[in-house]
Amino acid sequence: MTTDLPSPPPATLHDPFAPLIAQPADALLGLIALHRADPRPGKTDLGVGVFRDDAGRTPVMRAVKSAEARLAETQDSKSYLGAEGDAAYTEALAAIIFGAHRATGRLTGVQTPGGTGALRLGAELLARANPAARVWIGTPTWPNHGPIFAEAGLEVRSHRFFDPATGAIDFAAMVDDLAEARAGDVLLLHGCCHNPTGISFMPDEWRAIADLCAARGLTPFIDLAYQGLGDGLADDAAATRMTFGTLPTALLAYSCDKNFGLYRDRVGALWVQSAGTATASLVRSNILTLARSLWSMPPDHGAAIVRIILESEALRTEWEAELDTMRARLNALRQAIAAADSRLAPIAGQRGMFAMLPLSSSAIAALREDHGIYMAPNGRINIAGLRTDTIPAFAAALLPHLDTAGEAR
Ligand code: LMR
Repeated sequence: MTTDLPSPPPATLHDPFAPLIAQPADALLGLIALHRADPRPGKTDLGVGVFRDDAGRTPVMRAVKSAEARLAETQDSKSYLGAEGDAAYTEALAAIIFGAHRATGRLTGVQTPGGTGALRLGAELLARANPAARVWIGTPTWPNHGPIFAEAGLEVRSHRFFDPATGAIDFAAMVDDLAEARAGDVLLLHGCCHNPTGISFMPDEWRAIADLCAARGLTPFIDLAYQGLGDGLADDAAATRMTFGTLPTALLAYSCDKNFGLYRDRVGALWVQSAGTATASLVRSNILTLARSLWSMPPDHGAAIVRIILESEALRTEWEAELDTMRARLNALRQAIAAADSRLAPIAGQRGMFAMLPLSSSAIAALREDHGIYMAPNGRINIAGLRTDTIPAFAAALLPHLDTAGEAR
C-alpha cells in the first residue's frame, strides 16, 4: 500500500538553512577522490597521510589482525563503557607515551575519536576554562589545526618557526613572534614528525620552549600523531616526556591512526596535566561532560585492538617490529629522494611521513596534470606514497619544477 505524502511547503516560506555560506571542500581529503578518478596506471598518490608499503598498499597490520581475531573470540558484551571510553586502553597507551614516571595524580586521560577528537575536546576544555586564551600555532601546520580551535571559540594566532628558504628551524623568529603571547595562552606543538615539514626541534630547543612556556605562563598542547614513525617509540615521545616532566600544566592529543594503521577506526586519546590534584579532578569532570555532549562515548573497536596489542607481550613485540619496518621504509625513502638532487638533501634529515617541496601552485598543478603526481596544495608530499622503483621517475618529473620555487606560492 502506498500513502501519498503531502508535498513540502514552497521553499520561499521559510528556509532555516538559506543563510549558510558554501564551504570549500577539504583540499587534502579531496585529493583522495581526484587520484581515484585518474585512469592513468602510473599515477602517484602523495596526498593524504597514510602509510603505504613498497607495493603501494596500506595493509592492516598483522598485530592488528591477530588482536581483532582475539577480540572477536573473547568479547562477551558491546554494552556502553561511558564517556571516558576504555580506561585500560588509555592506561596502556600512557605507559608507552609518558613512561613510568608520569605525574599520575595530576594527569588525567580519556579515549577520544581519533587525534582530531582529542584536539577538539582539549580545545573545548581550554575555551571553557579561559575563553580569552589565544592558541599559537606555528605555520605551516596541519590545515585542520586552526579550524579545530576556532570552532571551539578560541582565537588562533600564527607564529613563524622555520625558514622556508633554507627549510631549517628559525628559532629566533618563533621567540620573536611569541613575545606577543599573553599568560594563559596556549602553544600548539607537534610532538614529533612535524606535519607538513618533517622538521624537528632539537632537544635544546624543546627545553627552551618549555622554559619560555614557564616564564610566560603559556600552556603547551602537544599533538602526537606519529609516535614510532620518526626515530622510535621512546625517542618520538622524548619531547612530550620532557615537557610534561618540566611544566605543571600541559595537554596531549594522541592518534593511533598511523602507528597502528587504524585510520578509519578513529582511535585517539587526550591527556591533561594539571598543577594540582584538586584541579585535576575538576578537569576530569569537565572533560567527561564535554565529551558526553560532543560524542557521548568514543567508538570502542579500534581502542580495544590497541589495548589487546599493548597488554600482550607477543602482540606488542610483533607490532613494534612492524612499526620498525615502517619507520625504516620511510627513512630509506628519505635517503633515496635526498640523493636525487642537492636541493632535496634536507629531506634525509627530516622525519615522519611528510616533507614540503618548494613548488609553485602551477608546478603542483603541472605535476598532477602531466605526470599523475598528486600532492597537497602547499607542496607537501607523503613520503610513503613513493616506491623505491618510482623515485627516479618522480625526481625526473619534479626537478625541472624546483627552479620555479617562490613563484605564486
Ligand atoms: C594528513 O595530514 O594527511 C592526515 O593527518 C589525514 C588528515 O586527517 O588530514
